Amino acid sequence: MRQAGRYMPEYQATRARAGDFLTLCRTPDLACEVTLQPIERLGVDAAILFSDILVPLPAMGIPLAFTDEGPRLEPVRSAEDIGRLVVPEADACRFVYDAVRLCRRALEALGDKRVPLIGFAGAPFTLMTYAVEGHTSKQFTQTKKLLYAAPEAAHQLLDKLTETVIVYLKAQVEAGAEVIQLFDSWVGILSGDDFATYAAPYVERVLTALRPLGVPLIYFAHGGSALYEQVGKLPADVFAVDWRLPIDVAGQRLGLGLNPNAAGRSTGTAIQGNLDPGILLGPISEIERRAGEILRRAATLGCGHIFNLGHGVVPETPVEHAQALVEAVHRLGRRDSSGAAQGSTAA
Ligand code: CP3
Repeated sequence: MRQAGRYMPEYQATRARAGDFLTLCRTPDLACEVTLQPIERLGVDAAILFSDILVPLPAMGIPLAFTDEGPRLEPVRSAEDIGRLVVPEADACRFVYDAVRLCRRALEALGDKRVPLIGFAGAPFTLMTYAVEGHTSKQFTQTKKLLYAAPEAAHQLLDKLTETVIVYLKAQVEAGAEVIQLFDSWVGILSGDDFATYAAPYVERVLTALRPLGVPLIYFAHGGSALYEQVGKLPADVFAVDWRLPIDVAGQRLGLGLNPNAAGRSTGTAIQGNLDPGILLGPISEIERRAGEILRRAATLGCGHIFNLGHGVVPETPVEHAQALVEAVHRLGRRDSSGAAQGSTAA
């Protein structure tokens, strides 16, 4: 996550050429250039489209800007506000699909160094928090007020966001995205009951709508470790996890692991993530030790493992530390003849 970002000098340079972050996201050749930077610089095994989860919201009728304090949106709080929002035609975000096409072409040109391209969107509940709060929130007061004081309006908003995300992700796959990741960054603020009411059904609708497209589907419930029993029942192929539980414990709670026939097991086939991005601020010896620990623990699960951070790379990260992590994962994660260890990396 944020494998392309402010910690990389070449990202800073392209962003300066674009002028601002949103223009970078909306200019396909620059977005493509930035998507490829971590492939070259870090040697990661997957590219993630350079964009942002908030990019489709303006097309729904929610103005968006990025400031030094982060994203700012014109908040949507009443039933009337929500009633006015539209589910945009796929064409409204054509610049994103153009970026996907350019990335695929550039990746194909890498020959045997080619890596797959991940497309993405925000999950409906997480997008709702931004639409309702208007910025990144700590207390989520407005969101909770809508959920508990006007549940019908909340469901109407979630419904429109869900339809938008489905159209948006289908178009990314049609343009060439080979994997899809759904980011549910704020789902950890919900109780189990509220997750079951306001988040899970909408995630399930997105995943089910994309299933016929035949690409692997990754669901990331950031901060969601208290919800993993429920999360694991969602029809994703890969569950991305943060660092709050050891990866083997997370996998067991998600229902992945050694007993594929256990009742209630999800359809998931792999786990992804787990390294605290803050570890990249520490010494390389510690980065290597922690990466080794995750590889060892994940191998006990008996399901697939994609090595990844548990959240986004922070801007203060030394690039050499990110490089050292990728190198360590490739070295330590090399599969033995039984195929036991795993060695894929996407930061
Ligand atoms: O490399 C990649 O991972 C692909 C690009 C990507 C970005 N954002 C670029 C970005 C992806 C997948 C995202 C997802 C995203 N965006 C999420 C979900 C993951 C998560 O972090 O929980 C969320 C919640 C957002 C919303 C968002 N975008 C915020 C809150 C901020 C401000 C905070 C910050 O880090 O600056 C952004 C800005 C943003 N998105 C940056 C990048 C590289 C930094 C922008 C800059 O250049 O200043």
